[in-house]
Amino acid sequence: MVELTTGGRLRGIFAAEDPYALARAWLAEAEASEPEDADAAALATVDGHGLPNVRMVLLKEIEPDPTRGGFVFYTNFDSAKGQELKANARAAMVFHWKSLHRQIRLRGEVELAGAKQADAYFASRGYQSRIGAWASRQSRPLANRRTLLAEVAKLAAKYPLHPPRPPHWGGYRIRPLEIEFWGQGDFRLHNRFRWTRLKSDSASWTVQRLSP
Ligand SMILES: Cc1cc2nc3c(=O)[nH]c(=O)nc-3n(C[C@H](O)[C@H](O)[C@H](O)COP(=O)(O)O)c2cc1C
Repeated sequence: MVELTTGGRLRGIFAAEDPYALARAWLAEAEASEPEDADAAALATVDGHGLPNVRMVLLKEIEPDPTRGGFVFYTNFDSAKGQELKANARAAMVFHWKSLHRQIRLRGEVELAGAKQADAYFASRGYQSRIGAWASRQSRPLANRRTLLAEVAKLAAKYPLHPPRPPHWGGYRIRPLEIEFWGQGDFRLHNRFRWTRLKSDSASWTVQRLSP
């Protein structure tokens, strides 16, 4: 159910039954128009001192069911972001597509993606990326590049054909409580529609138009 609090209708590029479908549609358009990495998004987490942290990741899936699924990315569980998510399983994410003059931002709860799902995605990656996921102790100090390359060589010798998914690597799913769609308007009179819900397994959304 979608309730539009400020009257009117969701029209044009903002029209949708649910915000996941809208995000998927905008991402698909961006894939056709952005020169590279249309799926790149900034991911914000908060550390144990309440200090925010942000970095880019690639969004690999917007799952179909908004009541169970979410926005999925992959990383090293022991990285800074992994540690931060372990302590505080909440995150925010923002996409900006320059060619389309659009932004999507979302925030909500984070959970681990399933092992089978992560295995399937890991298997779809190139061999060097799979070895790299084994070799890199992401976010921890590294004496020099030579050490990393030696680790890559060692793991390539160990797994010459089919490296399995490392236990320290997998997916996270953000299940948004809020998703905001922003489209550039003339004279900086932009259009903003924020979808909110009370629980991350709810199919009931309230949509509000916001001032630019
Ligand atoms: C365009 C772009 C996409 C990236 N995608 C990912 C990604 O999907 N997963 C990942 O772990 N790091 C990705 N990175 C690297 C991260 O930005 C970051 O350097 C790394 O994950 C370590 O972050 P952390 O120390 O905050 O955990 C990407 C970087 C860029 C510039």
